[in-house]
Order: sequence, then structure tokens, then C-alpha cells
Amino acid sequence: MDICKDFPFINQTIDGKPLVYLDSAATTQKPQVVIDSLSEYYSVYNANIHRGIYQIAEKATSEFEAVRDRVTSFINANNRAEIIFTKGTTESINLVAYSWGRKFIKPGDEILITEMEHHSNNVPWQLVAQATSAILNYIPVNDDGELVNPLSYINEKTKLVAVIHQSNVLGTVNPVEEIISRAHEVGAIVLVDGAQSTPHLPIDVLDMDCDFFAFSGHKMMGPTGVGVLYGKKEILDEMNPFLGGGEMIKEVSMEAVSFNELPWKFEAGTPNIAQVIGLGSAIDYINEIGLNVIHEQGELLTEYALEKMSDISGISIYGNPQDRGPVVSFNIAEVHPHDLAQLLDQQHICIRVGHHCAQPLMTKFGITSSARASFYVYNTIEEIDVLIQGIEKAVSILK
Ligand SMILES: Cc1ncc(COP(=O)(O)O)c(C=O)c1O
Repeated sequence: MDICKDFPFINQTIDGKPLVYLDSAATTQKPQVVIDSLSEYYSVYNANIHRGIYQIAEKATSEFEAVRDRVTSFINANNRAEIIFTKGTTESINLVAYSWGRKFIKPGDEILITEMEHHSNNVPWQLVAQATSAILNYIPVNDDGELVNPLSYINEKTKLVAVIHQSNVLGTVNPVEEIISRAHEVGAIVLVDGAQSTPHLPIDVLDMDCDFFAFSGHKMMGPTGVGVLYGKKEILDEMNPFLGGGEMIKEVSMEAVSFNELPWKFEAGTPNIAQVIGLGSAIDYINEIGLNVIHEQGELLTEYALEKMSDISGISIYGNPQDRGPVVSFNIAEVHPHDLAQLLDQQHICIRVGHHCAQPLMTKFGITSSARASFYVYNTIEEIDVLIQGIEKAVSILK
């Protein structure tokens, strides 16, 4: 299957040279079908949803709501009412922190996260802990980039566990099922940050039995500005709304307000209609390729990259987890990662450098930043060879 032809971005050249994009953990490129679906919405049936009664407005509403059904089956949720559209993983987690955390977490309760969380699954919980006088605990990470005895940190005081499914820095895929099962034994609820896993792994929220699952459209070939929060209906029902405004109400008087039913209770205002429709196209595209193909390509590229990169003199590769996604973070002795990225950029190779929104994890590894190459289904072995040559060339200039 020639997947690359579907991606105009991937096919472009700069000064006659191909572009090598190895930053899909930050955001993925979009296939033409996704780009076309945005353009079609704006060109043919752009109207607000859930209000107009003319045919075009009804078409916009039905296309938007049809994506909710596609997301429901994509992650195997029980009920379309459990799928809330947000603007991304960050907003999904903040919704839970605000509407569930501030209502149900009490002084002295424990919130458990891990040292490898992205800031978007760390900062909201620091804020909840401050607001409620709860205690924030961390499951530690070892040098291999794996969680150390995660179940032993869950106890009778644990009220919520928020855990990253696949690390955006180390690639580690965490044993979320075991964590969820232990958390439920003590009556805690579990939020899984699926921003990095959903693009690569089949997600079955029923089987996983998580209480909340968050992910972003733009990391799985969809547009920016759309994400999903899955939540168990009985838990969502008990929560206060996150944002107030149009759409999320049933009735408003001068003195009182009653709320809409799920999922709209959590979708105040005009949503990102085009982006939701684009996410629907991305899901169709992923289903057409097959998550098994996507996953296998990720494994192949990562194995090859790890083998070749480990031969580079002075390289430190962070983490060596047993179960990992297609992400490799590294530094080279005496080379600043920003200088490396700049020289790679001159060769039209795009990688990410910085703290990857995971400063506590950087501290754990004794660094402030690293370089990171991440791969997706449109990448090739040849591109990894280009990366290796590019790194060697850059290092020869910098050292
Ligand atoms: C693991 C993880 N969680 C959360 C996020 C935040 O996603 P977004 O910026 O789309 O809200 C990211 C983004 O890089 C991520 O990698």
C-alpha cells in the first residue's frame, strides 16, 4: 500500500530536496481526504449545528453527530452520550479536573499520577490538589523508562489515578489495565491520557474499563482544534458542567438554569464543526489502512532507528521500555539538541527538541532537554537512513 501518496505535505520538496518529517508525536500530517473534508464543509454545507432548520444546517448537524457515532465505535464505547468533543487532550483532562476533581476530591485524598506525564496531565492535578488540599503523589519511573511498582502506590486514600498510556518522550506503553483494575478495587477512578496511544494502538475503553479517556484529533491525522473526552455515563451524569453558555442548557430563566443531557451538557457554544468532521475522515482513513498496519510500521521503524542510532558515537537514548511506541529521545555528548535540530533543519529533516512538555521527567533523567524523532505510518526506513546521515553530518560540524 503506497500510503505516502495520500499526504501532500509528505510529498513536497524544498529546494528540490525531499522533506523528512519525524515529528509526528507533536502533530501528524493529514491525508488529502481529511483536507478535502474540511474544504467540502466550508465550501458546501457551512452552517451552525443543532439550531438551523434549513436543509444545509441539518446536513451540518447530521455530519457532525455522525462523527460521534464513529468515535463511539472507534474506541468501543457503550454509548454515544459518553463521547464529548473538546478542543484536544488538554481540554479533555482539564474538563475532568474541573468538573469531577473539584467536586469529588476532598482534603487529604490522594491523586496519583506518574513522573512521565505530559504537563497537560500534571498541571491540572497540581491545580486540583491546591484547590482541594488533596495530596498529589507520583509513580516513579526507572532508567528504562518504565513505571516502578505502579500498583503499590494505589491505596485506600487514592481517589483518582491519571496516567499516560504511551509516553511522548520515551515511547513507553504503560500497563493501564492493571492500574485500572487495582484502582477500582479501592474505589478510585482512572483517567487515561491517550494522546499518543490512540494514533497507534486499537483502543477499547470497555475492555480497558477506564473511567475517562482523552485524546487529540491532530495526533491521529485529523485537524487541530478537536479532541475527545470519553467518560462513563454514570460518572459524567454526576459532574457539574465545565463551561456555561449556549447548547449546554435545557432551560434558562432569570434565576435558574437546567442543563442539557449528555453529551451536550459538556459542549457549550459553537463547537469546532469542521474539525470534528475532519476527525471523522481521519478515523475512516485509519480504519481503511488498519491500525495493525500502522502499529507494525511504527514497530519496524523504531526497531531500525534504535539499532542504527545506537551506533552513533556519544549518543544517549533515553529509556528502553519493553513495550514502546515509535518515539526515540536522545542526546549526543557535547552537542546541544537545539544546535542539532537547527543543522538537521538545514537538511530539511524535522525533529523536535526541548523538554517535550515533560519537565519532571527531564529532571528525573538529569537533563533539561533532548532531541526526539517520532515516526508514523507515512515514514520509511530510507528516511531513518537520512536522519542518521544528517545527525552524523551535524555532529561533525558541531564537535
Ligand atoms: C501524552 C500527551 N498528552 C497530552 C498532550 C496534549 O495534547 P494537546 O496539545 O493536543 O491537547 C500531548 C501532546 O503532545 C501528549 O503527547
